[in-house]
Parts: sequence; structure tokens; C-alpha cells
Amino acid sequence: MKSINVGLIGTGYMGKCHALAWNAVKPVFADVPEIRLVHLGEATDELARAKAAEFGFSRASGDWRRVVEDPEVDIVSITTPNRFHAEMAIAALEAGKHVWCEKPMAPEPADAEAMLAAARASGKVAILGYNYIQNPVIRHIRRLLDEGAIGAVNHLRVEMDEDFMADAAAPFMYRHEASSGYGAIDDFGVHPLSLIHMLLGGVARVMCDMAKPYQSRKTAGDETRPVEVFDIATILMRLENGASGVIALNRAAWGRKGRLTLQIFGSEGSILYDQERMNEFRLYLTADRTTEQGFRTVLAAPHHPPYDRFIPAPGHGLGFNDLKVVECRQLVGLMLGEETTVIDFEDGIRIERTIHAMARSFREGRWVEVA
Ligand SMILES: NC(=O)c1ccc[n+]([C@@H]2O[C@H](COP(=O)([O-])OP(=O)(O)OC[C@H]3O[C@@H](n4cnc5c(N)ncnc54)[C@H](O)[C@@H]3O)[C@@H](O)[C@H]2O)c1
Repeated sequence: MKSINVGLIGTGYMGKCHALAWNAVKPVFADVPEIRLVHLGEATDELARAKAAEFGFSRASGDWRRVVEDPEVDIVSITTPNRFHAEMAIAALEAGKHVWCEKPMAPEPADAEAMLAAARASGKVAILGYNYIQNPVIRHIRRLLDEGAIGAVNHLRVEMDEDFMADAAAPFMYRHEASSGYGAIDDFGVHPLSLIHMLLGGVARVMCDMAKPYQSRKTAGDETRPVEVFDIATILMRLENGASGVIALNRAAWGRKGRLTLQIFGSEGSILYDQERMNEFRLYLTADRTTEQGFRTVLAAPHHPPYDRFIPAPGHGLGFNDLKVVECRQLVGLMLGEETTVIDFEDGIRIERTIHAMARSFREGRWVEVA
């Protein structure tokens, strides 16, 4: 493959993140083909042209289908709201393109299953934007778990909190409509699930409670609309490996910005991680007990690959957007036939099924097995 020709749909928060990743992957990793930014799609021609100039794309369209149908495009980055993912991803796969789609797959289970079927039928690479699993610190935690450093994991406690839905006076938007999904568990809780899947494996069954801090919001036109989704959720779970766990999610948690904490408890020690301090984790090993009783803080360093590709100095730290660059390198690797660490549509569907089991558990007030 001489070059990888990129199409991008959507240029908001995640669209910019993908554009930065496509621009950075070659300078950071060197060992990838030339990246050509070919075609950018947005909701209008005007916005598409402006963003194409800003991000460095050669062509721009106000109709995303032009991107998907462009014969020069090899891969399509899909960074639009959740309700568009299925239609766009399926069209891209059917047009013979590889797909890098933002999480989650789709609000409707049937649409997510159709995305998986399209990926299987196409034989193309189809992955989801689960960037948090790409943190070199998380990779190091996985190595420690695989080596049995903290023994057999018996319990897991996970919290994810942000405050982007905390303001009761903020206007009603598409993310408050049921058509965008359930709220905290799918728009948000899929991230902790991606970490759980990568570190410890699948979830076997769940018991979920959900809550709405605000029942209605005002639209920009001063109309009152009921909020149709749940910003808060608490889930008890049992993993396939037998460990018990708790996930607590809150998108309306004033002061919390990007908190995603893991507490992993094993028979020989514990690991603590917080995404708001993503360049470190804390480790307690029973082997240390004779001399020390506390946790030690482990800092991200060049011997936690691919940290070394970004920066030679230990403890200086990567950022959120760097994780997307790592994800992009993993994706390119997959396109080149390498074995890499990503959440593809096959893994993604297990996360979606877990989400729908949570929603069903809440509706029916009981434990539900993940199908
Ligand atoms: N991986 C992460 O950490 C992460 C973080 C935030 C959001 N996301 C996901 O990224 C996706 C987008 O979220 P966001 O926060 O970037 O949203 P956003 O609102 O900032 O951006 C969405 C973009 O899609 C464009 N768009 C909407 N309809 C379109 C259409 N029909 N054709 C072309 N473009 C269209 C909008 O104009 C906008 O530029 C969601 O699926 C979300 O779940 C992932």
C-alpha cells in the first residue's frame, strides 16, 4: 500500500480529533504509508469547504454520500452523532471502504447488528473509536494483569463522571432525545465497558438502575421538552471470569470533567487508575507488604509502548488527542495485516449487547444475562 487515502465525515469534537490523528500518525510512527487527506463531508457545502481547508483535505462535500462513493477514498472516518453511524458505516462498507466509526455503534440493536453483518460481508477493516484502551498506561496495566501481578482478579469498581449535562438551564438538544440512545449507559458508559473488555474480558450479567436529574429542558425557542434519556446509571455486574463489579455513571456531575476511574482488586494486590490523571496509575502488591504498606505511583514512561514514539522523557505525559493517534496507528496496522489492539465491530457488538442488557434490566427490574 503506497498511500492511505482518507475520507472524514463530521468535523465537531471527534471530527477534529480524527483529523489531528490522521495528520499526526505518520510523523509520530514513521512506519506507515503516506497519509492523504482526500475528501471531507459535512452537513453543508459551506462548512465542509471551511473545515477541509482547516484540516488539510483536498475535496469537500455537503453530502456525506459523495465521500463514501469517492473512488479515491480507502477509509472513512465517521464522527457524526450516533443516529447516523449505521447508515454511513454500512454505505461505506458496501462501497468497499474500510471504516473507523466513533462509538457507540448505533442506538438501535438491529442497526448495530446490521453494521456487523456489513463489516463481515465486506471483509474490510471496521473499528470503533474506543480511544481510552489505547493509553500506554492501560496497556501496561493489561500486561501486569496478564502476568498475574495482582493475582486472581475478584472485584472491579468503575466510575465515569463528567459535567456536560450538569447545567439544568442548558437547552434541550438531540442528545436528550430517545432517538440518540439511552443516555449515560450508551453515549458514555461504553467507554468503561471497552476498558473492562480489554483488561478482563466480557460481562456475563447485569443489574441496572437509571435516573434523570432533570425531567425537562427548555428548547432554544423556549418550549419545554421532556428529557427522554437518563444521565445517571448504577450497574451491578458479574464478569465472564467470575469477578463481581460495579459501574457508576453520571453525565451531570458538576466538577467532574473526564473522570474514568478503575479499581481492580486481586488476590495479590490492587490497581487504581483515573483518566483525569491518565499518565499514571497506582499499584499495591502484597509482595511489598513486609517493607511497605502503601500504594506506589507508576508514571508513564518510554518503556510503556508506544509512549516512546511521542516523547523520550518519562513522566512528561501524553494527552487525550494522542490516544486517537495511537488508535489510528492500530487501525493502519490492521489495514496492513498486522495484529493490533482495537475494538472492531465484532468486539463492539458485545459492548452494545451489554448496554441493551442494562436497559432491559432497568425496564424489568431484574438481573439480565448478556446475550
Ligand atoms: N471517543 C471519544 O472519546 C468520543 C468523545 C466524544 C464523542 N464521541 C462520539 O463521536 C460522535 C460525534 O460526537 P461529537 O461530540 O464529535 O459531536 P459534534 O456535535 O461535536 O460533531 C458532530 C459533527 O457531525 C456533523 N454532522 C451532523 N450531521 C451530519 C450529516 N448528515 N452529514 C455530515 N456531517 C454531519 C456536525 O455538523 C458536526 O460537525 C458521537 O458518536 C459520539 O458518541 C466519542
